Amino acid sequence: MQFKIQNLFSSKLNFLCLFFAISSITAIGQGLRTYATEAGLNFGTMATIQQFRPNPKGYKDTLSTQFNMTFPGNELKFKNVEKERGVFNFAYSDSVIAFAEAHGMKSRGHCLIWHSFSQNPAWLTDRWYGTNPWSRAELLSIMKTHITSVVSHYKGRISEWDVINEGIGIGDGHPNGLRKSPWQSIIGDDYIDSAFVYAHRADPTAYLYFNEYGGEGAIASEYAKRDTVYNLAKRLLARGIPIHGIGFEAHFGNYVNTGAISANMKKLGELGLRVSITELDMMNTTNLPNNWKNLMNACLENYNCTSFVTWGIDDKTSWMGSDCGCLIWDSTFVRKSAVYKVLSDAMKAANPNISAQRKAFAAQLPYPQTPLPKAATPTINYCQGETAVPLSVVGSKLRWYSTLTGNVYDLFAPTPSTKDVGTKSYFVSQTISGLESQRVEIKITVTAPTTWYQDLDGDGKGDQMVKLVACAQPTGYVKEASTGINDISSDNNLNVYPLPFKESVMIRLNNGDNQIVGVRILNLSGVTVEQNDEVNKSFISVGAGLSKGVYIALITTSNKTYSTRIVKL
Ligand code: XIL
Repeated sequence: MQFKIQNLFSSKLNFLCLFFAISSITAIGQGLRTYATEAGLNFGTMATIQQFRPNPKGYKDTLSTQFNMTFPGNELKFKNVEKERGVFNFAYSDSVIAFAEAHGMKSRGHCLIWHSFSQNPAWLTDRWYGTNPWSRAELLSIMKTHITSVVSHYKGRISEWDVINEGIGIGDGHPNGLRKSPWQSIIGDDYIDSAFVYAHRADPTAYLYFNEYGGEGAIASEYAKRDTVYNLAKRLLARGIPIHGIGFEAHFGNYVNTGAISANMKKLGELGLRVSITELDMMNTTNLPNNWKNLMNACLENYNCTSFVTWGIDDKTSWMGSDCGCLIWDSTFVRKSAVYKVLSDAMKAANPNISAQRKAFAAQLPYPQTPLPKAATPTINYCQGETAVPLSVVGSKLRWYSTLTGNVYDLFAPTPSTKDVGTKSYFVSQTISGLESQRVEIKITVTAPTTWYQDLDGDGKGDQMVKLVACAQPTGYVKEASTGINDISSDNNLNVYPLPFKESVMIRLNNGDNQIVGVRILNLSGVTVEQNDEVNKSFISVGAGLSKGVYIALITTSNKTYSTRIVKL
């Protein structure tokens, strides 16, 4: 060791290099950022245009050396990013996200859907109320365009999004405690489902949050709100909605029951959810540093508390006003040493086992990775009722992906002879458990004894890709279905087969023979898992008690039994 040190100092150049290396490690190495990173925690703060652009002395250095997460505080809000309908302005948010990336920091997306009148553009709020309000379909479509455009713009770059902001309205009189916002009133409760689904489709790698104030569990008078958030999250998860976390805004006063907050984090963790402290400011910070210490400890003792984010760096620019004394740096941009110290000490003392657990948990991919069953080939034809058979050619064989079993079958290699030249029909069929069969006709054009094609466009000449051209005539199919998937009527074709659903599926047959007298649900081994012989109506709801999986629904009318395949997601 001695030898090495002597060697290192043997030239002035080496000495200088070492000096600079040590001093830059000191600058970053002792910052809150380093301790947070060691604990597997995103320690972040928002940056608004007023703070970020003028770059008050030391602002950006503090941002990048003390924090490992930053994001636009206001500029991704609806009113700023889509001021004009369908026209998106990412100029400012891009600069903050680029800054974060250049400094190896994570980002949050704040926020997609919020009720706040002042944070939405006039073109949108003008028709929230009044004589000509948006229809459900219009507002869903506005929401879809907004979420899809904004989330797609940052696909793979923003790690967590506040999809719904402040959607709880204790006292609004909604049975489930939802805020009776225009989104809820016009679209319905499922605006939440839709928003999460749209965001997940746009970036399946992003963690999606429901962000709320007063739901943290900090004081007893807010326990009702805390429980409302919990119950909502539970219902969304039960429906398979891709929600991954709860945001605790944490705009706190002098008293904070951090024990209750920690217990709430733990309970949400038991649902598999992350918790992020998203907008923290605490009154009288200078005098009450222990509030920060205790809150930090509440987060550190829960592996699912993955982000700890303050609403700004310094008191001068705090939205609460500099009198609040709410942040870690004071109004002259000097760090409050007592607060800084308790935060550093808490993070340095973080339990390494929990930190390791947090890192592993944070690395898990957002659920679900495959929200709807995907077919094996790009040439999928969905047929009404029983058959939807994507086909492809693998080597010289025809490959069939069966939607009945979910299996892939290599079928046969057509061996055309000279006399086969022309179009020939092949049939593929499969029967499961003696209950249901799938049969499909494939027309294949043979142009020479050794080559065969399918005629895709009906011009009599073969095309390369083999594709389903005819479906077996269905015996009965679902004409209308309310599947619990928020937007099935506007976004999905009802002919999708098998019929996916989340909670339960409401079905009606397509023909006049629509008095349903009984229903049986079977699993793929033919075992009855649900039965109802009491019904005598044209609609029926099934599947509420099923676990995830593929089933056969046999729906009996006075004439005959129809079958259709359903998938609980
Ligand atoms: C605040 C910003 O800090 C202000 O600059 C803006 O004028 C209004 O919004 N809950 C939220 C944040 O989710 O977006 C809010 O931010 C604070 C309350």
